[in-house]
Parts: sequence; structure tokens; C-alpha cells
Amino acid sequence: MEQPPPPQIAILGAGIFVRNTYIPRLAEISNLFVLRAIWSRSEESARGAVEIAKKFFPNVECKWGEAGLNEIIQDASIIGVAVVLAGQAQVDMSLRLLKSGKHVLQEIDNWFTNSAGTELNTAISSYNSLKPAPIWAVAENYRFEPAFVEGKKLMAEIGDIINIHVIIEGSMNSSNPYFSSSWRRDFVGGFILDMGVHFISGLRMLVGCEITSVSAITSHVDTTLPAPDHISSTIQLENGSSGVFVMVVSSRSPKVLWRIVGLKGTLQVERGSKDGKHGYTVVLFTADGQNKSWFYPFSGVTEELKTFVSDISQANLKKDGSHQVEPRISFLEGARDVAVLDAMLESGKRQGAAVQVKKF
Ligand SMILES: *[C@@H]1O[C@H](CO)[C@@H](O)[C@H](O)[C@H]1NC(C)=O
Ligand SMILES: *[C@@H]1O[C@H](CO)[C@@H](O)[C@H](O)[C@H]1NC(C)=O
Ligand SMILES: *[C@@H]1O[C@H](CO)[C@@H](O)[C@H](O)[C@H]1NC(C)=O
Repeated sequence: MEQPPPPQIAILGAGIFVRNTYIPRLAEISNLFVLRAIWSRSEESARGAVEIAKKFFPNVECKWGEAGLNEIIQDASIIGVAVVLAGQAQVDMSLRLLKSGKHVLQEIDNWFTNSAGTELNTAISSYNSLKPAPIWAVAENYRFEPAFVEGKKLMAEIGDIINIHVIIEGSMNSSNPYFSSSWRRDFVGGFILDMGVHFISGLRMLVGCEITSVSAITSHVDTTLPAPDHISSTIQLENGSSGVFVMVVSSRSPKVLWRIVGLKGTLQVERGSKDGKHGYTVVLFTADGQNKSWFYPFSGVTEELKTFVSDISQANLKKDGSHQVEPRISFLEGARDVAVLDAMLESGKRQGAAVQVKKF
């Protein structure tokens, strides 16, 4: 197979997630691509992130403002861009880049602009009209976490599903660096949408089947958080199975758990740590009363970045838009995750009325 040259990429954004997560994770795979530039709206913020990145990518350039953005857009050697900007209207930025021919990796958190989903539909149809279309990837690391990849395979062991439950007791409080990010407070759904989307993708990944309708109660108890700060929802799957999804944004004793009860056994994935590493424990309870367990440290962000880099180098070889994107980074998967939470929030507003999940 022809070995493509390492693709050149840029990052738009210089906030906490770029500094604490993107740069160190990209550094782990720095042999696979060239980081050409980091851009931010303000020069100061761009310089801060470039300072950190220089340790791993000595030649990275600092770009800011409209002029810096245009330089990135007009530089044909930069073929991929990671959009890691805070908040609303990032879909517009992604579309602008896609129209200029860049492949885009967009953080899923930046996707919700409003809960109506109309902007999303408009964005999707305007993307679909691009010929050839560059890759539009939505980053959701849960689909790449080894615990979910392996857990999904174990689903075959538990037989027919009787019940699914997801219990999320988060730890979002004023000590969390994301707590005061203002944009998370400004949109409907607050932290439930922002944090919850990852737990929904973990769920969809494990069960391998779409959620068709939900019925939810939402409430607002902790007034230091935006409303709602709690959701209790029933979930109905396409194939007849059902379960519950419970999420508390801030609790004193965090817990993050998916549990699927089947006729022949139960599968559980739970966040935890082992030997100083954070990750997930996967437990399979079998019909004979025994259990087997495996611990998988977090590595989803690295895996997803690796997939994007490999996809864009392949696409760049073909140039005609015929390269198939790895389904786990397809923007459609991201849209499906968001649609489930949108439906839950909508049901919450209507005192638990059953709401159909929008199909993408
Ligand atoms: C669908 O539901 C049944 C139980 O009703 C279950 O056994 C099966 O594994 C489910 N998932 C898929 C992807 O069909
Ligand atoms: C926030 O949550 C963390 C993790 O549960 C905890 O260690 C910390 O004490 C909490 N801080 C506040 C201000 O409640
Ligand atoms: C698995 O089984 C062992 C005993 O065989 C038990 O000590 C352990 O608590 C079980 N693990 C879980 C997660 O229940």
C-alpha cells in the first residue's frame, strides 16, 4: 500500500481542553502528522497554547484573529483542522472550513447550538451538498475507549437483554476547571447536555441499537448549577429492550456506571482507577454466579485522533471524496447522541410525556 506523507493539521482553539488534553494526546502520536498551527481569536490565548505545544512540536506556528484564520484556510498544505473552540456557533466555523476543502474534526461538546436541532439539520444538508465532500468528523472518545470496544463484544455472552441501566453521578462543582466556562451556562440543558452526551454514546455503543423514545423527569436542586441538574429517564430501544438513564450533575460521591442485565448474565462497565490510572472496569457476571473483570485505562482520545489522522491521509490520496470515513467518527453518530439528550430534555419540560428521538 502506498505510504501517504504525514498530513499537516491545525488546531482552532486554545482553551483548557486543548492545553490539558489535545496537546498531550497529540504528542503521543506526533510521528503520524505535522502540527502546523494553533489558532485562537485572541493573540494572548493562542500564544499560551503554542507555548505548551512547542515542547512536542517545535515548529508549530501561532495564529490569531480573522487574518490568522484566513492564512490557515488559504494554506493548501494544511489538510485537516481540529475545531476545539468553546461554545455556540462552532458548527458555522466547521462549515466554513469544510467549504474551503479542509477535513474537520469537531468536538462533540461544541455541537449543540439549541435544542431545536434545526441548525444541525441545516448544517447537515449544507455539508451534504459539498462535492467532493471533505471529511466531517465529530470527536466522541467513548466510541474509542477500549472498555466500550471490548464491552460491546461481551454483549453476546449475556443473552437476551432484560434491562439496561445507566447511573451517572457526576462531580461538576466549583473546583472543576470547566465549571465557570460561561457558554456551558448559556444554552438550554447546561451541563446535562454537555456531559451527558458522552454517557449516551457509551450506552449506544454497548447496546448497538438505537433509542427510539424516552420519557423523563428533570429537576433543578443545586442552584449553583444551571437548570436542570438532574434527569431521570426511561429509554425505549428500537428492538424492544428498555431501561433507565439517570444523571445527577454534581454529587459528593461520583459514580459512572452502565449495567446491562441479560437472560444468561450481566455486563457492567464502571469508571474507576487501578494502579494510579483512571479508566473503566468491565465486569461480566455469568450464569454460574462467577464473574470476570478487566480494567482498561482511558485511551479513547488518542485512538480517535489517530483515526482522524489516518482517515484524512487516506482521503488525501484519493482526493475524489470516495474515501469511507470510519463510522465511529462520522458526524451522524454525534447527531444521534445529541438527539437522545434533546428528547430527554424536551420530555422533562413536558412533565415526562413520551418523546420520539429524532432520526439522523
Ligand atoms: C435487541 O433486543 C433483544 C432483547 O429484546 C436483545 O437480545 C438483543 O441483543 C438486542 N440488541 C440488538 C442489537 O438487536
Ligand atoms: C468537588 O468535587 C470533588 C470530587 O468529588 C471534590 O473532591 C471536591 O471537594 C469538591 N469541591 C467542592 C467545592 O465541593
Ligand atoms: C467477583 O467474584 C468474586 C468472588 O468470586 C467476588 O469477591 C467479587 O466481589 C466479584 N466481583 C464483583 C464486581 O462483584
